[in-house]
Amino acid sequence: MDGISLTEAEEDFQTEETQSYGRVGVTFGDVGTTSLDFNASASVNKGEYVQISHPDVGWVLGQIDKIERQSDLSVEKARELNEGNDVEIDDTVVAEVNIIGFRDDKGLLRVPGNPFRAGEPVYLAEEDLIREVLGLKKTKEGAYIGKLRGHDIKVNMNINTIAQKHLSVLAKTGSGKSYTAGVIIEEMLKNDVTMVILDPHGEYNSLAKPGDPPNSEEFDIDSKGYGEKLTEFSPNPEINKGAQPLRFTFRNMDNKEILDMCGLNKRRSYINSLENAKSKLAVKKGEFGVKDVINLLKSNEEDNSTTLVKGLEKLKDKKIFAGKGTRIDDIVSEGRASIINLKGTPPDMQTFIVDKLAKSIFELRKRDKIPPLIMLAEESHNFCPQRGKVTCSNIFKTIASEGRKFGLGLGIITQRPAKVDKNVLSQCNTQIILKVTNPNDLKAIEKSVEGMTKGMKEEINRLPVGEAILSGAGLSEPLLVQVRPRETQDGGESIKVI
Ligand SMILES: Nc1ncnc2c1ncn2[C@@H]1O[C@H](COP(=O)(O)OP(=O)(O)OP(=O)(O)O)[C@@H](O)[C@H]1O
Ligand SMILES: [Mg+2]
Repeated sequence: MDGISLTEAEEDFQTEETQSYGRVGVTFGDVGTTSLDFNASASVNKGEYVQISHPDVGWVLGQIDKIERQSDLSVEKARELNEGNDVEIDDTVVAEVNIIGFRDDKGLLRVPGNPFRAGEPVYLAEEDLIREVLGLKKTKEGAYIGKLRGHDIKVNMNINTIAQKHLSVLAKTGSGKSYTAGVIIEEMLKNDVTMVILDPHGEYNSLAKPGDPPNSEEFDIDSKGYGEKLTEFSPNPEINKGAQPLRFTFRNMDNKEILDMCGLNKRRSYINSLENAKSKLAVKKGEFGVKDVINLLKSNEEDNSTTLVKGLEKLKDKKIFAGKGTRIDDIVSEGRASIINLKGTPPDMQTFIVDKLAKSIFELRKRDKIPPLIMLAEESHNFCPQRGKVTCSNIFKTIASEGRKFGLGLGIITQRPAKVDKNVLSQCNTQIILKVTNPNDLKAIEKSVEGMTKGMKEEINRLPVGEAILSGAGLSEPLLVQVRPRETQDGGESIKVI
């Protein structure tokens, strides 16, 4: 062994049941405290965990961040090979290890204070060491998202942190965002977390139905539906059958907002007419809808604004106002999730609805009138865009910066991280990143995730569907995870053209 004897720790390691985890190489060259190179003598892969003995602290966990085959094959020799001649090639595989560390007496994750030795054997890491150093305990606590890539080790994230410190699920289209968000929602429901899910495509009501999970045994997953914990609301219950109507109290609407939605300028004359009509109806009827205002304006001969009436007629057709709107405490119900199915609702109405809902939830949460909750938003780039402004831009920013103080978490799900307001994205402390290829999106992710190694950053655009980099929420560092199968039906499957 190149003149270096086995340390005691290594002898223990080699004589116990861990022998099956073989030696994969020997360190060489300049050896540091946070990274080192080894010459691979066995087949190892990028991302694999290895363990190396350190003279002072014993076993330390590392991860292969880069691997390459170095050879003496020059262009000239390659040309000879091309011409059919025999050429001897001297090559060797060199792996670069990022040192993760060890747990000290107090259980804190640390890296050694002085370098490893050159010539030290490197082994594939034992699962117990991986668990210990990465803090992946064998408990059922937390949100079970999947398994550490290449290992039979479950990765659970801290539910409170996910719910309170905001979450982002980022991936290009078709990479498994909605599927993974579904996995998180299942875990949240299991743990009685209160949720509101903003669902522009109507793909989350499938959480009510038990699915047919592939590899269920391997992942320890049963088919299960969460119908009893879900309520679906929609401004379009005619399209979204089974959903309860989502309506807003017309009386509580601000006059300027009404004129905005009617597509009218905020002219003083309109505001006055509207205000007069609303005041009269409030005295006469208490509750009233758009239709009542129209009828009153039509009957008023002195103040008959045809333009205003026309605008209000359009608003009436949108059917989102009523004398009595949906109660927020029906939507935010302890230990349950409400799906706000916005399928069939035009984009400007979606942002209006989301704005009203989010503002009410935030205000009521501040006054502790509703339970702590997390609001998940699919296609978040439409609700808090980086460029331009939509109706709900401000409330998203407010929730992102102040929500956690009041027990209101935010979940950003998007295929265009670069198009989401940076102020919102940077507040998400838990990140789930699936495959992303757009260079601007990759930059946005790199800026918002701490502790990702160079190798991991390179990995993002090569991740296969269903694999994710998880960061935050109780994890000591970003981990590559195979997302577990869904217990419920997958609602986001692509529609086959042929
Ligand atoms: N962890 C997984 N295990 C098994 N299948 C998966 C997994 N993740 C994703 N898939 C498959 O990939 C398909 C696409 O995933 P999904 O609908 O979640 O993508 P998406 O990122 O939300 O796409 P879009 O941007 O179009 O909404 C799913 O229908 C599912 O079949
Ligand atoms: Mg989706």
